[in-house]
Amino acid sequence: MTRAWNNPLRDPRDKRLPRIAGPSSLVIFGVTGDLARKKLMPAIYDLAHRGLLPAGFSLVGFARRDWEHQDFGELVHDSVKEHARTPFKESVWNRLAEGIRFVQGTFDDDDAFDRLAQTVKDLDAERGTGGNTAFYLSIPPSAFPVVTKQLARSGLADASEETWRRVVIEKPFGRDLKSAKELNEIVNDVFPEESVFRIDHYLGKETVQNLLALRFANQLFEPIWNANYVDHVQITMAEDIGLGGRAGYYDGIGAARDVIQNHLLQLLALTAMEEPVSFAPRALRAEKVKVLSATKPLGPFEETTARGQYAGGWQGGMKVPGLLQEGGFAKDSTTETYAAVTLEVQNRRWAGVPFYLRTGKRLGRRVTEIAVVFKRAPHLPFDSTSTEELGQNALVIRVQPDEGITLRFGSKVPGTTMEVRDVTMDFGYGHAFTESSPEAYERLILDVLLGEPSLFPVNEEVELSWEILDPILDTWAKKGAPEQYPPGSWGPPSADEMLERTGRNWRRP
Ligand SMILES: NC(=O)c1ccc[n+]([C@@H]2O[C@H](COP(=O)([O-])OP(=O)(O)OC[C@H]3O[C@@H](n4cnc5c(N)ncnc54)[C@H](OP(=O)(O)O)[C@@H]3O)[C@@H](O)[C@H]2O)c1
Repeated sequence: MTRAWNNPLRDPRDKRLPRIAGPSSLVIFGVTGDLARKKLMPAIYDLAHRGLLPAGFSLVGFARRDWEHQDFGELVHDSVKEHARTPFKESVWNRLAEGIRFVQGTFDDDDAFDRLAQTVKDLDAERGTGGNTAFYLSIPPSAFPVVTKQLARSGLADASEETWRRVVIEKPFGRDLKSAKELNEIVNDVFPEESVFRIDHYLGKETVQNLLALRFANQLFEPIWNANYVDHVQITMAEDIGLGGRAGYYDGIGAARDVIQNHLLQLLALTAMEEPVSFAPRALRAEKVKVLSATKPLGPFEETTARGQYAGGWQGGMKVPGLLQEGGFAKDSTTETYAAVTLEVQNRRWAGVPFYLRTGKRLGRRVTEIAVVFKRAPHLPFDSTSTEELGQNALVIRVQPDEGITLRFGSKVPGTTMEVRDVTMDFGYGHAFTESSPEAYERLILDVLLGEPSLFPVNEEVELSWEILDPILDTWAKKGAPEQYPPGSWGPPSADEMLERTGRNWRRP
């Protein structure tokens, strides 16, 4: 048999070949926004730089500014120069700039959408975009329904047998189960589910995808990946910054809706799911849906959850305001900036293993990690004093920054006595590979253009996530203001108490 690695004619399905998008154009709504400038436009340039966009690729910006095409071109140019991952090259930029167009208008302006439809059509004739267009809704969630309806009214959403139309939606997908269902209905009324790409940019991160490689490409971990060996799992997304300038989006939303409902529950799903039959999108999503269906919040919530709000004070030598002093927030805002919950995956693999999820702003450090903490050895044949400093074995998947994996286990301290202490073994992406990781948005925008849906949650996953979170949010809504915590700390005292009650502690990454 000829082996793949010495076969001169490589299998065309070889996943190592570069994946280049076919003829297409991308329309971005909300081009003047933070996300478009810092992430989306730089990612498009990076894809162009890596030669992964088609020759006639075209980018259309839609915004209310009274701009010419070149004004929008300048905005893209500046954001690329400032934020792109790959070096700025005049030749790459010039090729990209030829396909940049701008359409001025507001979301309720029928004429503007008709002009947009004409622009998309003209680009197809001029540059051969194949009649294929993706619409990126980088806009406030309240505008999703009106833009979706405009895309339907103007005919922009209509695909033919040979062409595709796709819509890309940013989080948050609703604010509870009811509104998520309503939003899904509005979107699915215009676009079939296979044309809807809901962005959860965490799924575009290398380390998150590596979780699947770690679990399913190795023999080492899976036999112990269950309630027989795992004591509990901690999933953390901590940020050290505050919410200055983000009141419009955040006030009334809070940490649980902003991060736990999407990013952290997706990380839980990938950590806890069964092995998919294959990595085909349908198979992967089936397992995620199954594990989310089995995931339930553990109560009583007074004891198993914690919520907090950062107070003003000193952080890193700087005086910083509390949430209530940040511009734009209501002076009596009860929006939480810290949230921690206890969940259980109620199936044979995980019964009895708590999954602790926490997220917060103005915490001690910016870090995202999944820590699988193992049970203690059933018996330690040492003097108790020899193992005083021995913790529990843990496998920590470091999602960001400093992407990699750490294994913590006990080791003998050099010397004449048998003292055992925790040590770590590290894998770091930066050391192990010469290739630098693409930005999450690069991977995800390319996947949209390729029609590759594996890394995008389906409506069922979104609704299941709200089902898990809603009872906790309802309980919190009946309480008053969240507990205050000092900036630079690891959250309110109730968060520590929540774990101490079960004899456990949060990691201090
Ligand atoms: N920023 C992030 O890191 C991030 C992360 C995850 C998800 N998201 C999501 O991504 C989306 C965009 O976020 P963002 O931070 O970029 O928001 P943003 O900075 O507030 O930008 C919103 C954009 O929408 C436009 N817009 C708002 N109302 C409009 C209207 N009635 N007609 C026409 N244009 C209108 C704004 O145009 P004007 O400039 O003309 O006002 C602006 O370009 C949101 O859904 C957000 O939840 C953002």
